[in-house]
Amino acid sequence: MPQKQKNNFKELSWEEFYKLPLKNKYDFFIKDNVLFDVIYSQQFSKSILENLFTLASKIRAVAKSKGGHDWLQTLLSHKRAMLYFIQPSTRTFLSFQSACYILGMKVSEIRSTSTSSEIKGESPEDTIRTFSSYADLIIMRHFEPGMAEKAAWILNNTPRPVRIINGGSGKDQHPTQALLDMYTLYLSFQDKGGIDNKTIMMVGDLNRGRTVRSLTYLLKHYKDVKIIYVSPEYLKIGKDIKDFLKKQKMQYIETDNIEEYIKEADAIYMTRIQDEYDINKESLNIDYTKFHLTKKLVKLMKKDSIIMHPLPRRKEIDIEIDKDKRAMYWRQERNGMWIRSALIAYMFSIENEILKYQN
Ligand code: CP
Repeated sequence: MPQKQKNNFKELSWEEFYKLPLKNKYDFFIKDNVLFDVIYSQQFSKSILENLFTLASKIRAVAKSKGGHDWLQTLLSHKRAMLYFIQPSTRTFLSFQSACYILGMKVSEIRSTSTSSEIKGESPEDTIRTFSSYADLIIMRHFEPGMAEKAAWILNNTPRPVRIINGGSGKDQHPTQALLDMYTLYLSFQDKGGIDNKTIMMVGDLNRGRTVRSLTYLLKHYKDVKIIYVSPEYLKIGKDIKDFLKKQKMQYIETDNIEEYIKEADAIYMTRIQDEYDINKESLNIDYTKFHLTKKLVKLMKKDSIIMHPLPRRKEIDIEIDKDKRAMYWRQERNGMWIRSALIAYMFSIENEILKYQN
């Protein structure tokens, strides 16, 4: 990125920077031709995505032997990661922690503002600046949509920039969930013509679920993908996503009826109701059982389609369905650890070393 442009960014206030269209600030998150900060799923090009898929599968294969596992741990043993997760998380937190361990990074964590000096009145901005004194990478989950981006903006303007990965930003984005979802689709359809021409059904709270938003952005990289959004009227996918699909000339439909369309779907992506975002318990009035995957509905699915879920689930998928060979969600969850390892390896430019490793 030319220095001049970087200086132009430096002249902007945070508010001015945040308002820029995303396409005008991609370069801000890149250093030496590599993503330095991962804030939005739109930052992943098709070639970055597919390189990450290859790298994730290679790391998984190398880690199978003790020799390979021990060797991987030497690669980033001089680097430290900070996990700042002040919104609840099980798998994003644990899979990132595991990914850091796989590559030998030392890990620190804060999981609640009640145990950081934020409880004493320190601002989130100063808190993030403080982490940068001790870490080379900050992976963060925050309830405020813009906070990961703000962290990148703050730290890229300091003498010691530190990489940021967005591990979930309010209702807005969850770019690394989208990575693992895409990796799962890639693995599942590897021998079935790839992701091109597939129909993906996304079901549930599409209005407040950040995973469906981030995943939709990445599906644009594949030809003739069709999306079927199934949700209650009140929880329909946002207008910004529909505008994006129209601009990309991607096919989509909206419905509230799983049964009518399930026969068409190659992947059924279930989501839970995101009632933590209710303002007045409005979700209580929604009959969400219509958006549950039952054994009866599974009987209508194509034989080689797959069932996905970012998890955690409540009752959207009958636990009896876990035994069905098309249930992919537990593998999907584990795929997260490998693709997140690949992402970190890529961000620290060690992917060629890994790809050259002879098992
Ligand atoms: N899918 C996902 O983000 O799960 P967690 O909230 O458990 O991290």
